[in-house]
Amino acid sequence: MKVDVILGLQWGDEGKGKIVDALAPAYDIIARFQGGPNAGHTIIFNDRKFVLHTVPSGIFRREITNVIGNGVVLDPVTFCKEIDAIIDAGFNPEENLIISGNCHLIMPSHRLLDAISETAMGDQKIGSTLKGIGPTYTDKYARKGLRAGAIEMSDFQLQYNKRKEQHFDYIRLTGTDIAQFRFDGLTFGEYEKLWFEAIEKLKKFKIVATEVFLNNALKNGKQVLAEGAQGTLLDIDFGSYPFVTSSNTTTGGVCTGLGIAPQYVGKVFGIFKAYCTRVGNGPFPTELHDEMGELIRKNGNEFGSTTGRPRRTGWLDLPALRYAVMLNGVTDLVMTKADVLTGLETIQVCSSYKCAGKEYIMPELAIENDCSTVNQPLKGWTDDISKTETLEALPDGLKNYLNFIQMATGIQVTCVSTGPDRTQIIKI
Ligand code: GDP
Ligand code: IMO
Ligand code: MG
Repeated sequence: MKVDVILGLQWGDEGKGKIVDALAPAYDIIARFQGGPNAGHTIIFNDRKFVLHTVPSGIFRREITNVIGNGVVLDPVTFCKEIDAIIDAGFNPEENLIISGNCHLIMPSHRLLDAISETAMGDQKIGSTLKGIGPTYTDKYARKGLRAGAIEMSDFQLQYNKRKEQHFDYIRLTGTDIAQFRFDGLTFGEYEKLWFEAIEKLKKFKIVATEVFLNNALKNGKQVLAEGAQGTLLDIDFGSYPFVTSSNTTTGGVCTGLGIAPQYVGKVFGIFKAYCTRVGNGPFPTELHDEMGELIRKNGNEFGSTTGRPRRTGWLDLPALRYAVMLNGVTDLVMTKADVLTGLETIQVCSSYKCAGKEYIMPELAIENDCSTVNQPLKGWTDDISKTETLEALPDGLKNYLNFIQMATGIQVTCVSTGPDRTQIIKI
């Protein structure tokens, strides 16, 4: 068997959680391969809404095993809050969630380092979610990280203290007064206490070699779906560096983040919104600073699932989409939030970039920094699509829009999401 992949093709928040949840019944296992609590994946069913940060989006289906892979960074405090909410809703995540012993733990001092780094950058700041992602991956690659597998070791507290002291030595050099810092209103000491309580709760979960579990599952004919976080344009290597996250959000991250060899990667579902959004700083060639941008933000409820920040909005960017399709080896495109554009007379699509009189259909090198966009206007549609169940029944304007994107990317759109609920999906 092969591992299918669901990942974002833009700057995150494409609706990955919704699509994973909607496609989950076809799978036995859902595995997160990178990122951490910077992610916010929204799932809506039976009039209930959940926002998952670290836990895979198959958790609400009892028959599915959910895996937090080695490529993920896990904050025990956020994780336990999520788990409590899932248990309150009547589910039993201890039974269908396993965690890689190799996934790295986000320590309270990593969050402190994140905040200090962003403050020091002033206007140039990345706009991080401040969840400690960058510093935790930094320690991982510096071979100084603390992994989930260490929590049962007798010297865990010692290992923790050693890392914390190293962080504190650096923090003191920056002149930061640690006593002044607050984590959601808590002092460092209070938050650290919470962190160790969360470590005790973490011990109730199976912490295993998930790479062995997954490879055995594949051998035994199980269907596995890998769930990405963030989006291609936030990838540490291929995103708009340095305004990126600290992991590989692209298909390559599945191999390293789960321990799956490349020949076992199957379908790659690339999720994209019918327009673009970005939360945080960095280039956004098609960004709208006008009333249209405001309308899309309002109709699409474009406010961050993790931080509540308003998302920047803009038209669909085909050069960026082509680039994302190329990088990920996308086999199937999935469009979300087409319903948000319902009622617009005209929809603009950026078909190419123009730089120094030359036209580009891919964002080669860093040209997005000083280029203009070439837009193609397309006729919109007015019919409500929120209850539409077949491709044929979609309005002509939307069908044309889908065809246009398929022609431009060479990939078929095999799913269209028509609203936030689990049931609002057209499989083509
Ligand atoms: P993720 O991080 O990629 O999982 O996406 P988020 O959950 O951060 O943001 C997507 C938002 O759009 C959430 O509020 C979803 O409930 C919502 N959503 C997903 N698909 C659709 C759709 O097709 N239409 C509408 N209107 N909302 C959607
Ligand atoms: P999901 O999985 C949207 C953005 C942040 C910031 C940059 C770096 O919900 O799609 P970090 O906290 O990683 O240091 O932030 O990346 N970012 C996201 N934007 N969706 C996400 O996740 C994001 N995770 C990080 O806003 O610009
Ligand atoms: Mg999100």
